[in-house]
Amino acid sequence: MTLLGRNGMGKTTTVRSIMGLIKPKRGEIKFQGRDITGWPPYRVAKVGVGLAPEGRHIFPNLSVGENLTATAHNINQLADPWNLDRILALFPPLEPRIKILGGRISGGEQQMLSIGRALMTNPKLLLLDEATEGLSPLLRNQIWNSIMRLKDKGQSILLIDKNLKSLLKVADRHYIVEKGQIVWTGNSDKFSTSPDLQKRYIGIWRSSNYG
Ligand SMILES: Nc1ncnc2c1ncn2[C@@H]1O[C@H](COP(=O)(O)OP(=O)(O)O)[C@@H](O)[C@H]1O
Ligand SMILES: [Mg+2]
Repeated sequence: MTLLGRNGMGKTTTVRSIMGLIKPKRGEIKFQGRDITGWPPYRVAKVGVGLAPEGRHIFPNLSVGENLTATAHNINQLADPWNLDRILALFPPLEPRIKILGGRISGGEQQMLSIGRALMTNPKLLLLDEATEGLSPLLRNQIWNSIMRLKDKGQSILLIDKNLKSLLKVADRHYIVEKGQIVWTGNSDKFSTSPDLQKRYIGIWRSSNYG
């Protein structure tokens, strides 16, 4: 599923609130029926939410391998948990970087690392906030392919991204956010066949974003 909406509409704020990084002023956050409003991030992570944040925020002074293991856990005893080998199979460019400091690898590698780090917490729900932002088309494609592989494995993912076409292809359900409120929800077909939706809530998209 996705959160769609123009810049500044509150998508990042929503996922940061879910993760417990900021406290919502109003409302409640429920995860699998449990009220997790106001929980600190480590507790939210323990019940099974993993975030690859906008801007990546990898640990610059830890190696790639340390970044992956620093917050790793499988508290919910998910079958077939993630480990280093499986992350490196999903993101092969990280393998030769494993001993390099996180701050010294490329933006695309940092993005892979950020997603890999979130996966190492074996999340039931993975939050990906602008995971292809600022990357070359080639790297963007690599990330989308990895996201597809995760989806095929049955991983639940909440996606935020500016590449509308890819989002419509990869995700089933969409929620449009406007000023912090959900103003529309529907599947990819419904979105694609509602021509005014894109203009009204998403704005005019640059052709590069539409690719
Ligand atoms: N529900 C809200 N109420 C008040 N301010 C909000 C709300 N959601 C977001 N903001 C503010 O709007 C700005 C942009 O929000 P952000 O979540 O980064 O947008 P997006 O990720 O959709 O581009 C931030 O300064 C944030 O504090
Ligand atoms: Mg944002």
